[in-house]
Amino acid sequence: MTLQLLPEEEKILAGEFGETRQKMMEILVALGKVFGAERLISIRSAQVSGASYKTIGEAGLAWISALDARVVVPSVLNPVGMDRVNWRDMGISAGFAKKQEEVIAAYARLGIRLECTCTPYYMYKTRYGEHLAWSESSAVSYANSVIGARTNREGGPGALAAAIIGKTPAYGLHLVEERRPQLVIAVEESSAWNDTALYGALGYCAGKIAGNRVPLLTGIRPRRDQLKALGAAMAASGAVALYHVAGITPEARVFSYSTGNLETIPVTVGEATALFQEQPVDAVALGCPHCSPEELSEIATLLSGKKVKIPVYIFAARNVIESNSDAVAVIERSGARVYADTCMVVSPALERYEAVMVNSGKAFAYVPDMCGAAVRLGTTEECIRTATGE
Ligand code: F3S
Repeated sequence: MTLQLLPEEEKILAGEFGETRQKMMEILVALGKVFGAERLISIRSAQVSGASYKTIGEAGLAWISALDARVVVPSVLNPVGMDRVNWRDMGISAGFAKKQEEVIAAYARLGIRLECTCTPYYMYKTRYGEHLAWSESSAVSYANSVIGARTNREGGPGALAAAIIGKTPAYGLHLVEERRPQLVIAVEESSAWNDTALYGALGYCAGKIAGNRVPLLTGIRPRRDQLKALGAAMAASGAVALYHVAGITPEARVFSYSTGNLETIPVTVGEATALFQEQPVDAVALGCPHCSPEELSEIATLLSGKKVKIPVYIFAARNVIESNSDAVAVIERSGARVYADTCMVVSPALERYEAVMVNSGKAFAYVPDMCGAAVRLGTTEECIRTATGE
């Protein structure tokens, strides 16, 4: 079966609605043909990566600037290279800021909302079964696994094309049969699984096992923020875009009957805790993925009445920061800084440090390559203790 287009889709492909829409349809058709899609399906929202000037450079800026169309579904950007308001405070150069604003302006001309976050689910009500075109890997994992929405792990151009056309090819995780578990990761049952950072470490181990397969994890009962940490790390150390947790995630029940003959691989508490190695650090970075309101208030409680002795960066979506101003005020009275629009990986701000302490399995995987710094993993409490010199 080949990709079948509707008459109006054929017209877009023929260039009747402008060159940019034609180009975007060509991207969708090419993706659909490569992955064997039979049709395009409508999406509810898009999240577009390739927004930091640090990662896309001049070539990416030129490509986006040449486009001339508007998105037709709610669309947000992935984090960019700086806080759009407090970039000077982050130590970002004026030259970088100018280029970053050009990238943002190019996306704004396309009608993309300038919310730059990897947690768009804190902004848009995203529902079970909805089709999306999201591209940041942790957001994709959360949408698929925790919410039960459906999105492939789109590249930046694929997500942008879907945003402008309002559709994406129906293949991969848009199809129920592709969402079945392909292996079981049998996690050692233990009361030790009580910390979000430990779930990040578990995700780091599980991602290496799963690769790009859909795992079903057993033996754990993570809360929402812990699921966020688990999925983000699995998407970073592996390429897991959907996982199930028995008894917890919405589709685990749907597929529980079909796991009998699957390969089963155990993971122990010891394998996860082995990643928590002591080492001196000269900065702390929290909020990968961007902090939830609950995570901001946990950090505020830990920092209340204290002063940090080394730089502490905390990242969250702008709407989450604005609606949790009391917690943010407590955090900033300690000397720690809360930034919007950006993160420790896509901003050049963390490149000036020798070693960075994080509470995230995903940041643990990416900081060495993306920031050129050594990385230490700790719980949120350990990160704050390190920062305050306790
Ligand atoms: Fe988000 Fe940046 Fe981490 S995009 S998931 S905070 S690497």
